[in-house]
Amino acid sequence: MAVILGIESSCDETSASVCINGKVINNEIANQTIHEQYGGVVPELASREHQRNIVPVVQHVLDNAGINASELDGIAYTRGPGLLGALLIGSSFAKSMAASLDIPLIPIHHMKAHVLAHFIDDPKPKYPFICLTVSGGHTQILRVNSPTEMIILGQTKDDAVGEAFDKAAKLLGLPYPGGPMIDKLAKEGDPLKFEFAESEMPELDYSFSGIKTSILYFLRKEMKLNENFIRENINDLAASIQHTLISMLMNKLIKAAEMEDIKQIAIAGGVSANSGLRNALNNEATNRSWEVFIPDFQYCTDNAGMIAISGHLLYEKQAFGKLSDSPLPRMPF
Ligand code: KG4
Ligand code: ZN
Repeated sequence: MAVILGIESSCDETSASVCINGKVINNEIANQTIHEQYGGVVPELASREHQRNIVPVVQHVLDNAGINASELDGIAYTRGPGLLGALLIGSSFAKSMAASLDIPLIPIHHMKAHVLAHFIDDPKPKYPFICLTVSGGHTQILRVNSPTEMIILGQTKDDAVGEAFDKAAKLLGLPYPGGPMIDKLAKEGDPLKFEFAESEMPELDYSFSGIKTSILYFLRKEMKLNENFIRENINDLAASIQHTLISMLMNKLIKAAEMEDIKQIAIAGGVSANSGLRNALNNEATNRSWEVFIPDFQYCTDNAGMIAISGHLLYEKQAFGKLSDSPLPRMPF
Protein backbone atom coordinates (compact mmCIF):
# COMPACT_ATOMS: atom_id res chain seq x y z
CA MET A 1 0.00 0.00 0.00
CA ALA A 2 1.45 3.31 -1.02
CA VAL A 3 0.89 6.95 -1.86
CA ILE A 4 2.40 7.70 -5.29
CA LEU A 5 2.79 11.00 -7.13
CA GLY A 6 2.82 10.63 -10.94
CA ILE A 7 4.35 13.21 -13.28
CA GLU A 8 3.97 13.25 -17.08
CA SER A 9 5.85 15.73 -19.30
CA SER A 10 6.81 13.82 -22.45
CA CYS A 11 5.21 16.10 -25.03
CA ASP A 12 2.90 19.09 -24.69
CA GLU A 13 0.90 18.25 -21.56
CA THR A 14 2.17 18.96 -18.06
CA SER A 15 0.28 16.58 -15.84
CA ALA A 16 0.36 15.31 -12.26
CA SER A 17 -1.72 12.79 -10.37
CA VAL A 18 -1.90 11.24 -6.91
CA CYS A 19 -2.59 7.52 -6.52
CA ILE A 20 -3.41 6.25 -3.02
CA ASN A 21 -3.37 2.47 -2.49
CA GLY A 22 -4.02 1.81 -6.19
CA LYS A 23 -6.81 4.38 -6.52
CA VAL A 24 -6.12 7.36 -8.77
CA ILE A 25 -7.47 10.32 -6.80
CA ASN A 26 -7.00 13.07 -9.37
CA ASN A 27 -5.42 13.82 -12.72
CA GLU A 28 -4.61 17.43 -13.52
CA ILE A 29 -3.48 18.35 -17.01
CA ALA A 30 -2.15 21.72 -18.16
CA ASN A 31 -2.59 21.68 -21.94
CA GLN A 32 -0.28 23.85 -23.98
CA THR A 33 -2.22 25.84 -26.54
CA ILE A 34 0.81 27.84 -27.72
CA HIS A 35 1.66 25.19 -30.37
CA GLU A 36 -1.61 25.57 -32.33
CA GLN A 37 -0.30 28.60 -34.24
CA TYR A 38 2.71 26.55 -35.45
CA GLY A 39 0.74 23.51 -36.68
CA GLY A 40 2.70 21.12 -34.43
CA VAL A 41 4.56 20.91 -31.13
CA VAL A 42 7.61 23.22 -30.90
CA PRO A 43 9.99 21.41 -28.51
CA GLU A 44 11.65 24.49 -26.99
CA LEU A 45 8.30 26.15 -26.31
CA ALA A 46 7.02 22.90 -24.78
CA SER A 47 9.96 22.82 -22.33
CA ARG A 48 9.35 26.41 -21.26
CA GLU A 49 5.65 25.73 -20.70
CA HIS A 50 6.45 22.61 -18.62
CA GLN A 51 8.80 24.72 -16.52
CA ARG A 52 6.06 27.27 -15.93
CA ASN A 53 3.39 24.67 -15.12
CA ILE A 54 5.06 21.91 -13.17
CA VAL A 55 5.18 23.46 -9.69
CA PRO A 56 1.57 24.71 -9.60
CA VAL A 57 0.21 21.49 -11.18
CA VAL A 58 1.99 19.24 -8.66
CA GLN A 59 1.09 21.48 -5.73
CA HIS A 60 -2.52 21.49 -6.84
CA VAL A 61 -2.90 17.68 -7.06
CA LEU A 62 -1.29 17.24 -3.63
CA ASP A 63 -3.62 19.86 -2.08
CA ASN A 64 -6.62 18.39 -3.89
CA ALA A 65 -5.82 14.91 -2.58
CA GLY A 66 -5.27 16.27 0.92
CA ILE A 67 -1.74 14.88 0.89
CA ASN A 68 1.34 16.51 2.34
CA ALA A 69 4.53 15.86 0.34
CA SER A 70 5.99 14.15 3.44
CA GLU A 71 3.26 11.47 3.15
CA LEU A 72 4.40 10.35 -0.32
CA ASP A 73 5.95 6.89 -0.63
CA GLY A 74 7.29 7.23 -4.18
CA ILE A 75 7.42 9.47 -7.25
CA ALA A 76 6.72 8.02 -10.69
CA TYR A 77 7.75 10.04 -13.75
CA THR A 78 7.90 9.55 -17.51
CA ARG A 79 11.49 8.67 -18.40
CA GLY A 80 10.74 8.34 -22.12
CA PRO A 81 10.03 8.18 -24.99
CA GLY A 82 9.30 11.83 -25.73
CA LEU A 83 10.91 15.21 -26.33
CA LEU A 84 14.24 15.50 -24.50
CA GLY A 85 13.70 19.02 -23.16
CA ALA A 86 10.18 18.18 -22.02
CA LEU A 87 11.28 14.94 -20.33
CA LEU A 88 14.13 16.82 -18.60
CA ILE A 89 11.73 19.14 -16.81
CA GLY A 90 9.55 16.32 -15.42
CA SER A 91 12.44 14.03 -14.54
CA SER A 92 14.56 16.76 -12.87
CA PHE A 93 11.57 17.84 -10.83
CA ALA A 94 10.73 14.24 -9.83
CA LYS A 95 14.36 13.53 -8.91
CA SER A 96 14.83 16.63 -6.78
CA MET A 97 11.56 15.99 -4.95
CA ALA A 98 12.37 12.30 -4.37
CA ALA A 99 15.89 13.18 -3.18
CA SER A 100 14.66 15.82 -0.75
CA LEU A 101 11.98 13.48 0.66
CA ASP A 102 14.32 10.47 0.55
CA ILE A 103 11.72 8.27 -1.18
CA PRO A 104 12.02 5.96 -4.24
CA LEU A 105 11.90 7.21 -7.81
CA ILE A 106 9.92 5.08 -10.26
CA PRO A 107 10.87 5.67 -13.92
CA ILE A 108 8.01 4.90 -16.29
CA HIS A 109 7.89 4.04 -20.01
CA HIS A 110 5.25 6.34 -21.52
CA MET A 111 3.80 3.76 -23.94
CA LYS A 112 3.58 1.06 -21.26
CA ALA A 113 1.79 3.58 -19.05
CA HIS A 114 -0.84 4.09 -21.78
CA VAL A 115 -1.52 0.33 -21.50
CA LEU A 116 -1.56 0.30 -17.70
CA ALA A 117 -4.15 3.12 -17.72
CA HIS A 118 -6.60 0.19 -17.91
CA PHE A 119 -5.86 -0.52 -14.26
CA ILE A 120 -7.21 2.84 -13.10
CA ASP A 121 -10.91 2.00 -13.31
CA ASP A 122 -13.07 -1.13 -13.33
CA PRO A 123 -13.54 -3.34 -15.24
CA LYS A 124 -9.84 -4.19 -15.47
CA PRO A 125 -8.47 -6.65 -18.05
CA LYS A 126 -7.05 -9.97 -16.94
CA TYR A 127 -3.59 -11.10 -18.07
CA PRO A 128 -2.77 -12.00 -20.76
CA PHE A 129 -4.62 -9.47 -22.90
CA ILE A 130 -4.04 -7.85 -26.28
CA CYS A 131 -3.63 -4.09 -26.41
CA LEU A 132 -3.69 -1.96 -29.55
CA THR A 133 -1.66 1.09 -28.53
CA VAL A 134 -2.27 4.02 -30.82
CA SER A 135 -0.77 7.45 -30.26
CA GLY A 136 0.92 10.33 -32.05
CA GLY A 137 4.28 8.54 -31.99
CA HIS A 138 3.47 4.82 -31.80
CA THR A 139 1.20 2.15 -33.21
CA GLN A 140 1.68 -1.25 -31.65
CA ILE A 141 -0.17 -4.48 -31.02
CA LEU A 142 0.98 -5.88 -27.68
CA ARG A 143 0.49 -9.08 -25.80
CA VAL A 144 0.40 -7.92 -22.19
CA ASN A 145 1.46 -10.69 -19.80
CA SER A 146 2.02 -8.53 -16.69
CA PRO A 147 2.65 -4.87 -15.79
CA THR A 148 6.29 -5.37 -16.76
CA GLU A 149 6.10 -7.98 -19.52
CA MET A 150 4.63 -6.68 -22.75
CA ILE A 151 5.51 -8.37 -26.04
CA ILE A 152 5.28 -6.43 -29.32
CA LEU A 153 3.36 -8.59 -31.81
CA GLY A 154 3.30 -5.97 -34.53
CA GLN A 155 3.99 -2.27 -35.05
CA THR A 156 4.18 0.48 -37.60
CA LYS A 157 7.23 0.57 -39.83
CA ASP A 158 6.88 4.28 -40.55
CA ASP A 159 4.27 6.83 -39.37
CA ALA A 160 2.12 6.28 -36.30
CA VAL A 161 -1.63 6.25 -36.89
CA GLY A 162 -2.04 9.48 -34.84
CA GLU A 163 0.48 11.09 -37.17
CA ALA A 164 -1.54 9.85 -40.15
CA PHE A 165 -4.68 11.45 -38.67
CA ASP A 166 -2.80 14.71 -38.03
CA LYS A 167 -1.16 14.82 -41.48
CA ALA A 168 -4.43 14.03 -43.25
CA ALA A 169 -6.10 16.80 -41.24
CA LYS A 170 -3.36 19.21 -42.31
CA LEU A 171 -4.02 18.33 -45.96
CA LEU A 172 -7.67 19.19 -45.33
CA GLY A 173 -6.59 22.56 -43.90
CA LEU A 174 -7.62 21.69 -40.32
CA PRO A 175 -5.73 23.00 -37.28
CA TYR A 176 -3.29 20.89 -35.20
CA PRO A 177 -3.87 18.40 -33.65
CA GLY A 178 -6.12 17.20 -36.42
CA GLY A 179 -7.14 13.78 -35.06
CA PRO A 180 -9.97 15.06 -32.86
CA MET A 181 -11.16 17.38 -35.67
CA ILE A 182 -11.37 14.50 -38.17
CA ASP A 183 -13.30 12.50 -35.57
CA LYS A 184 -15.78 15.36 -35.10
CA LEU A 185 -16.29 16.04 -38.82
CA ALA A 186 -16.54 12.33 -39.63
CA LYS A 187 -19.67 12.02 -37.50
CA GLU A 188 -21.66 13.88 -40.20
CA GLY A 189 -19.97 12.21 -43.19
CA ASP A 190 -20.24 9.11 -45.39
CA PRO A 191 -17.34 6.74 -44.60
CA LEU A 192 -17.70 4.96 -47.95
CA LYS A 193 -17.85 8.05 -50.18
CA PHE A 194 -14.14 8.10 -51.06
CA GLU A 195 -11.73 5.20 -51.21
CA PHE A 196 -8.09 5.38 -50.19
CA ALA A 197 -5.77 2.46 -50.74
CA GLU A 198 -4.85 0.62 -47.53
CA SER A 199 -1.15 -0.26 -47.34
CA GLU A 200 -0.39 -3.97 -47.23
CA MET A 201 2.17 -5.09 -44.67
CA PRO A 202 3.24 -8.61 -43.72
CA GLU A 203 2.20 -10.29 -40.46
CA LEU A 204 0.95 -7.86 -37.82
CA ASP A 205 2.89 -4.79 -38.90
CA TYR A 206 1.48 -1.52 -40.15
CA SER A 207 2.48 1.23 -42.57
CA PHE A 208 0.67 4.57 -42.56
CA SER A 209 2.91 6.77 -44.69
CA GLY A 210 1.40 5.62 -48.02
CA ILE A 211 -2.12 6.67 -47.19
CA LYS A 212 -1.00 10.27 -46.63
CA THR A 213 0.46 10.34 -50.15
CA SER A 214 -2.65 8.77 -51.62
CA ILE A 215 -4.83 11.44 -49.92
CA LEU A 216 -2.48 14.18 -51.15
CA TYR A 217 -2.66 13.06 -54.83
CA PHE A 218 -6.41 12.54 -54.62
CA LEU A 219 -6.99 16.05 -53.23
CA ARG A 220 -4.64 17.64 -55.79
CA LYS A 221 -6.56 16.01 -58.63
CA GLU A 222 -9.98 16.97 -57.30
CA MET A 223 -8.98 20.54 -56.38
CA LYS A 224 -7.84 21.12 -59.99
CA LEU A 225 -11.38 20.31 -61.12
CA ASN A 226 -13.14 22.16 -58.32
CA GLU A 227 -11.27 24.52 -56.01
CA ASN A 228 -14.04 24.21 -53.41
CA PHE A 229 -13.81 20.40 -53.35
CA ILE A 230 -12.42 20.11 -49.80
CA ARG A 231 -14.85 22.64 -48.35
CA GLU A 232 -17.85 21.04 -50.05
CA ASN A 233 -16.88 17.48 -49.05
CA ILE A 234 -15.14 18.00 -45.71
CA ASN A 235 -17.40 15.65 -43.72
CA ASP A 236 -17.26 12.82 -46.28
CA LEU A 237 -13.49 13.25 -46.63
CA ALA A 238 -12.98 13.08 -42.84
CA ALA A 239 -15.29 10.07 -42.55
CA SER A 240 -13.64 8.20 -45.43
CA ILE A 241 -10.10 8.87 -44.15
CA GLN A 242 -11.09 7.78 -40.65
CA HIS A 243 -12.80 4.67 -42.02
CA THR A 244 -9.67 3.66 -43.94
CA LEU A 245 -7.33 4.14 -40.97
CA ILE A 246 -9.63 2.27 -38.60
CA SER A 247 -10.14 -0.62 -40.97
CA MET A 248 -6.33 -0.98 -41.21
CA LEU A 249 -6.04 -0.97 -37.42
CA MET A 250 -8.90 -3.42 -36.89
CA ASN A 251 -7.80 -5.98 -39.52
CA LYS A 252 -4.48 -6.59 -37.80
CA LEU A 253 -5.99 -6.47 -34.33
CA ILE A 254 -8.44 -9.22 -35.29
CA LYS A 255 -5.58 -11.24 -36.75
CA ALA A 256 -3.53 -10.83 -33.56
CA ALA A 257 -6.44 -11.90 -31.35
CA GLU A 258 -6.91 -15.01 -33.48
CA MET A 259 -3.20 -15.86 -33.56
CA GLU A 260 -2.82 -15.51 -29.79
CA ASP A 261 -6.26 -16.98 -29.08
CA ILE A 262 -7.04 -14.17 -26.64
CA LYS A 263 -10.44 -12.55 -26.26
CA GLN A 264 -9.54 -9.82 -23.76
CA ILE A 265 -8.88 -6.88 -26.08
CA ALA A 266 -7.90 -3.34 -25.08
CA ILE A 267 -7.08 -0.10 -26.88
CA ALA A 268 -4.89 2.67 -25.46
CA GLY A 269 -3.21 5.96 -26.40
CA GLY A 270 -4.49 9.22 -27.87
CA VAL A 271 -6.21 7.68 -30.90
CA SER A 272 -8.24 5.38 -28.62
CA ALA A 273 -10.34 8.52 -27.99
CA ASN A 274 -11.55 8.20 -31.60
CA SER A 275 -15.27 7.43 -31.68
CA GLY A 276 -15.01 5.42 -34.92
CA LEU A 277 -12.36 3.15 -33.40
CA ARG A 278 -14.36 2.77 -30.20
CA ASN A 279 -17.46 1.79 -32.22
CA ALA A 280 -15.51 -0.63 -34.40
CA LEU A 281 -14.10 -2.34 -31.31
CA ASN A 282 -17.52 -2.62 -29.70
CA ASN A 283 -18.91 -4.15 -32.92
CA GLU A 284 -16.19 -6.79 -32.97
CA ALA A 285 -16.85 -7.48 -29.29
CA THR A 286 -20.34 -8.58 -30.26
CA ASN A 287 -19.24 -10.49 -33.40
CA ARG A 288 -16.33 -12.31 -31.78
CA SER A 289 -17.34 -12.60 -28.09
CA TRP A 290 -14.47 -10.35 -27.12
CA GLU A 291 -14.36 -8.61 -23.79
CA VAL A 292 -13.19 -5.13 -24.75
CA PHE A 293 -11.51 -2.45 -22.62
CA ILE A 294 -11.72 1.17 -23.72
CA PRO A 295 -10.18 3.83 -21.47
CA ASP A 296 -12.13 6.76 -20.12
CA PHE A 297 -11.51 9.81 -22.36
CA GLN A 298 -9.29 11.58 -19.79
CA TYR A 299 -6.96 8.54 -19.77
CA CYS A 300 -6.69 8.14 -23.58
CA THR A 301 -4.49 11.13 -24.37
CA ASP A 302 -1.41 11.99 -22.32
CA ASN A 303 -2.10 12.18 -18.60
CA ALA A 304 -0.35 11.56 -15.29
CA GLY A 305 -3.08 9.23 -13.99
CA MET A 306 -1.53 6.49 -16.13
CA ILE A 307 1.93 7.34 -14.76
CA ALA A 308 0.68 7.25 -11.17
CA ILE A 309 -1.06 3.86 -11.58
CA SER A 310 2.05 2.47 -13.33
CA GLY A 311 4.06 3.82 -10.39
CA HIS A 312 1.76 1.99 -8.00
CA LEU A 313 2.11 -1.31 -9.90
CA LEU A 314 5.89 -0.99 -10.14
CA TYR A 315 6.24 0.16 -6.52
CA GLU A 316 4.78 -3.21 -5.54
CA LYS A 317 7.56 -4.84 -7.57
CA GLN A 318 10.17 -2.43 -6.15
CA ALA A 319 11.16 -1.44 -9.71
CA PHE A 320 12.97 1.70 -8.57
CA GLY A 321 15.27 3.99 -10.51
CA LYS A 322 18.30 6.03 -9.60
CA LEU A 323 19.00 9.75 -9.44
CA SER A 324 21.60 9.24 -12.17
CA ASP A 325 19.02 7.87 -14.67
CA SER A 326 18.84 10.28 -17.59
CA PRO A 327 15.69 10.81 -19.65
CA LEU A 328 15.47 8.59 -22.73
CA PRO A 329 13.80 10.32 -25.72
CA ARG A 330 13.93 6.99 -27.61
CA MET A 331 13.46 4.75 -24.60
CA PRO A 332 13.50 1.13 -25.79
CA PHE A 333 10.31 -0.82 -25.17
O1 KG4 B 1 -1.12 9.54 -26.69
P1 KG4 B 1 -1.16 10.93 -27.20
O2 KG4 B 1 -1.98 11.95 -26.43
O3 KG4 B 1 0.28 11.53 -27.31
C1 KG4 B 1 1.35 10.74 -27.72
O4 KG4 B 1 1.91 10.02 -26.84
O5 KG4 B 1 1.64 10.78 -28.93
O6 KG4 B 1 -1.68 10.87 -28.71
C2 KG4 B 1 -1.81 12.03 -29.49
C3 KG4 B 1 -2.41 11.66 -30.83
C4 KG4 B 1 -2.45 12.80 -31.82
O7 KG4 B 1 -1.96 12.35 -33.05
C5 KG4 B 1 -3.94 13.14 -31.89
O8 KG4 B 1 -4.33 13.67 -33.14
C6 KG4 B 1 -4.56 11.78 -31.68
O9 KG4 B 1 -3.78 11.20 -30.66
N1 KG4 B 1 -5.97 11.85 -31.25
C7 KG4 B 1 -7.01 11.45 -32.01
C8 KG4 B 1 -8.18 11.72 -31.27
N2 KG4 B 1 -7.81 12.29 -30.07
C9 KG4 B 1 -6.45 12.36 -30.08
N3 KG4 B 1 -7.03 10.87 -33.22
C10 KG4 B 1 -8.23 10.56 -33.73
N4 KG4 B 1 -9.40 10.79 -33.10
C11 KG4 B 1 -9.43 11.37 -31.87
N5 KG4 B 1 -10.59 11.59 -31.24
ZN1 ZN C 1 0.99 9.33 -25.23
